[in-house]
Amino acid sequence: MRDWTRRDVLKTGLGVAAGAAVGASGLAGLDADSLARALADAGVAPPPPRPAAAGSPRERLLLDFGWKFALGHAADAEKDFGFGQGNEFAKTGQFMKVSQEKFDDSAWRALDLPHDWAVELPFVEAKELRDSGFHPLGRDYPATSVGWYRRAIDIPAADLGRRLALVFDGVMSDAVVALNGVYLLRNLSGYAPFRVDITDMAQYGQKNYLAVRVDATERAGWFYEGAGIYRHVWLEKTAPVHVAPHGTFVAPEVKGEGASVAWLDITTEIDNDSDTGTTVRLAQVVTDPAGRTVGRARSEAVLVPAWTRGTVRQRMRVAGPKLWSPETPHLYRLESALERAGAGAGAPPAAGGDVVLDRDSTTFGIRTVHFDADKGFFLNGKHVELKGTCNHQDHAGVGAALPDRLQDFRVERLKAMQSNAYRTSHNPPTPELLDACDRLGMLVLDETRMFGSSEEALSQLERMVRRDRNHPAIFAWSFANEEQSEQGTEWGARAAATMKRLILRLDPTRPVTAAMDGQWGKGFTNVLDIQGFNYIRGPEDTFHASHPKLPCMGTEVGSTVSTRGIYANDKEKGYLSAYDLNAPWWASTAEKWLGFYRARPWLAGGFVWTGFDYRGEPTPSDWPCISSHFGILDTCGFPKDLFHYYRASWGSEPVLHLFPHWNWAGREGQPIDVWVFSNLPRVELFLNGASQGVREVPKDGHAEWQVPYAPGVLEARAFSSGGGQATGGVPALVARRETTGPAAAIVLKPDRARISADGEDAAVVEVSIVDAAGRVVPTASDLVSFAVSGAGRLIGLGNGDPSCHESDKGTSRSAFNGLCCAIVQAGRQAGALRVAATAPGLRGATLAIDCAAAPARPVA
Ligand code: GAL
Repeated sequence: MRDWTRRDVLKTGLGVAAGAAVGASGLAGLDADSLARALADAGVAPPPPRPAAAGSPRERLLLDFGWKFALGHAADAEKDFGFGQGNEFAKTGQFMKVSQEKFDDSAWRALDLPHDWAVELPFVEAKELRDSGFHPLGRDYPATSVGWYRRAIDIPAADLGRRLALVFDGVMSDAVVALNGVYLLRNLSGYAPFRVDITDMAQYGQKNYLAVRVDATERAGWFYEGAGIYRHVWLEKTAPVHVAPHGTFVAPEVKGEGASVAWLDITTEIDNDSDTGTTVRLAQVVTDPAGRTVGRARSEAVLVPAWTRGTVRQRMRVAGPKLWSPETPHLYRLESALERAGAGAGAPPAAGGDVVLDRDSTTFGIRTVHFDADKGFFLNGKHVELKGTCNHQDHAGVGAALPDRLQDFRVERLKAMQSNAYRTSHNPPTPELLDACDRLGMLVLDETRMFGSSEEALSQLERMVRRDRNHPAIFAWSFANEEQSEQGTEWGARAAATMKRLILRLDPTRPVTAAMDGQWGKGFTNVLDIQGFNYIRGPEDTFHASHPKLPCMGTEVGSTVSTRGIYANDKEKGYLSAYDLNAPWWASTAEKWLGFYRARPWLAGGFVWTGFDYRGEPTPSDWPCISSHFGILDTCGFPKDLFHYYRASWGSEPVLHLFPHWNWAGREGQPIDVWVFSNLPRVELFLNGASQGVREVPKDGHAEWQVPYAPGVLEARAFSSGGGQATGGVPALVARRETTGPAAAIVLKPDRARISADGEDAAVVEVSIVDAAGRVVPTASDLVSFAVSGAGRLIGLGNGDPSCHESDKGTSRSAFNGLCCAIVQAGRQAGALRVAATAPGLRGATLAIDCAAAPARPVA
């Protein structure tokens, strides 16, 4: 028979009937069995026993599908569905009428998450909107600053007795959550995940109404942040006794000659959310990257008293561990089974006749990280230069609401550039970014948003560290960025120490850093394990001399501002040339920072500001520019020329990149600056077969020529030694730029021809405008119209043009310097997703992406 506790009865509302039946003695002192008997005597049937979940009593259901959305109003309660009349909080059960059953949402728009309404808004020229991308959010834009989300959730009667919680991976930003007219929670941070227990107020065997009011009036960043429920939402169901949320932490320690053994220190917190003290055992199994069992442990029986959290510690030995690194991103898995010690019912049997109360799975990796104040960063005992980029989280077409696949897409691009590290500037990232970094091999500097020792700041930090601490990719925590009024102060140091204490309590295995842009040596410095430098500002050498024991790295370094495919600054449009020439006064060009850092091995490497362009901060430009120029790739992920500089300098494969393009009609005879990025020492340049001279390519530098323009073929030949036609050397690499003919056709190229029909997977379609010979026309700006049909839909368009005001959510997009992109998403039915692209005067193109049947995540 199912365990049937007093609390269960109270929660069903059956307690009233039971109380009546048992007379004056009420419910006090009744054990579960007598209570069930009393209920039966009173003619009240207990709820049907929950069917034993096959294998796992835990469920994690994706809540992304089937929402309704409407804009509210930040200043007018009437237009805000009654919210803000002044008595909203007076009665708990009459909160937010949108979350009540009778509310009519039929006029609202149907959508699926993730969703960002900011990217759907028009661009508005206003000074205060510059840094966030000119979307009308804020005090002056009440009609577009509040969004409402509503969704019905079926909660079966059989869930009664389980613990139910909603998990929000991230909502931008000030979110109020209500269920069935009951206030649940208010969450400020747009980046920290939050969780809300709905066990008590859920209506079992009925539809439940969830409403989230999201107010994006205030910002926590000075960059584009998006607006709305832009990350996943989950419904989690567990037994009352269960592994605590993010309660498992695996701390690996590598030992022995040649890292022959790893010891795993596994801490598992167990919540007993029930009235009965429960004795449990924790059975844990570790599987290696090939799925083989390599470790097992089963704890002693542990009593977890009612309504408390218990902790089980186990230690496991793994022989011959496969170490995680960017080149070898090996992942292990820990499967935990929480067993009730002794016999019981209602859950599947486990070893020894016990019952399994919970099963949980944790992905982790085995590696060591170490910083040396003289030599930099060491991963698994080997020196690794940090070749990093800082990034914000938005992408072309989708704003901040990225399908998971785009996280992989972005990390893949960065890896193709030979980058090995990612700074989540300046906020806790979406968990899928970290999954991608674990899986694909990308070190991560994980950063919280709010600095300080306030309850809010510490809560944001705790939620980040608890959630993220098993990711092997994360090598350090960052608690601040450029906190100009705190970083050098004594109170700043005290607050930093409080944050660090919290981090170390949750994760004693990783160093702690902060990105400082001044006051080095004071305040935060006294707390840091690694000194972070934002930009090269002069005091680095003297700092190192005075703090010889403190490791250092560049948390923000080079910051060339450039526009893809543009070769002269254009004030009117706000474009910046793609040569490595322009950087704001506080930053340096790529060549400058890399040269500086590489001459100082005690600087562990650095993070370029930024990997990808992002919306907002069009520095040094302004309107009509709506997105940044800092990226080495544009907002779509199309590489700028500098991508190849980093590929050459950070990588070991031979690279030769020649630019600019060679379409300069009207400039015949005029000198054009021609550059190459190469890691080969000599390059000879030819125009239409005539040598323009041989140049040495300095290490981490470039070679350049001035070539009078004549249409034809520009060719660079790179030699590994000696070299140049004159000496008869054989080129190791050849790169060409050809003058193209006029635009003639569209070419569509998906990043993947087959995706999963799970309603989430996405493909990025590169759209290029080519001439009759199939060469990309580097100046083409044709307006391409898209029609997407079949097994999926179009979710966004982009072209990387920082001054383009076309909507990312439209159905047509101009090419920018020959390229634009379309992001398409699979539905949940297998089949072909068809993309047709047309443009006046060009041969159109079609494409079919196979959306293949695939196991979808369980949904609520
Ligand atoms: C830095 C700051 C970044 C970004 C950058 C632009 O100082 O940390 O978030 O604003 O400047 O150059």
